[in-house]
Amino acid sequence: MKRVLVTGANRGLGLAFVRRLLARGDRVAAACRHPGRANALTQLAAAHPGHLHVLQADLAKPASIAELAREAALVFDGLELLINNAGVLPSGERFGAVEADTLDHSFRVNAMAPFLLTQALAPLLAKGDRATVLNLGSAMASLSGVREFRSPSYAISKAALNMATRELAQALAPQGIIVLAVSPGWIRTDMGGENAPTSPEDAAAALLRLLDRAGPADSGRFVDRDGEDIPW
Ligand SMILES: NC(=O)c1ccc[n+]([C@@H]2O[C@H](COP(=O)([O-])OP(=O)(O)OC[C@H]3O[C@@H](n4cnc5c(N)ncnc54)[C@H](OP(=O)(O)O)[C@@H]3O)[C@@H](O)[C@H]2O)c1
Repeated sequence: MKRVLVTGANRGLGLAFVRRLLARGDRVAAACRHPGRANALTQLAAAHPGHLHVLQADLAKPASIAELAREAALVFDGLELLINNAGVLPSGERFGAVEADTLDHSFRVNAMAPFLLTQALAPLLAKGDRATVLNLGSAMASLSGVREFRSPSYAISKAALNMATRELAQALAPQGIIVLAVSPGWIRTDMGGENAPTSPEDAAAALLRLLDRAGPADSGRFVDRDGEDIPW
């Protein structure tokens, strides 16, 4: 039984993680912006009494991140897995018209929030049994893979997430905490769209299998869901 915190848990890949974790008997703290509207989570909480706690957080706001960490410490006295899943992909960005607010918001949600939340939860992770932090990365963060001008706010912020992953891996190594950036592939969610080849359920299952195989030597790596390195 693992104790797990998942962000962006109300839909898409985050919700698939929650379903999968509950099905295997884990205890889950599911963070979302609007618990009152998170109907799928409410139903899951009723179906898994005592195993699912729904917590509120707007990850673009540092005060809300700090509050989430405080609430998590009231729910669990240790944490085995933190899944930094929440993310934003602004659509329709064109060179010449990219806005500061869009870059700023993307950086906050995609890079700053995973870093700050992991930092705030470090004491709880240190009390967990062989804890792991999964940062949901993207192949679009690969600097060497860039071939076109595409979704700059997303690509820049996910590249920053890779560096956050490297820094956190160093900071948390003394406590034996593993930190990974993993690209899930192209997934059928609101972000990925309906033409994506992989279901969120299959992606979540593959990512959890990958985490089960991960050891300290993997900390700081940037990989796909099969565990293959993605070039920086
Ligand atoms: N889908 C893909 O093909 C794909 C590919 C590569 C990487 N990824 C990564 O995988 C992760 C999950 O993606 P997804 O496809 O499931 O995305 P999604 O369907 O768009 O869901 C995004 C989740 O993030 C939450 N979120 C956004 N801004 C937030 C904020 N300020 N505070 C708290 N929560 C916030 C959303 O909550 P609300 O409902 O409140 O907006 C939602 O739960 C992301 O990090 C994404 O970058 C996805």
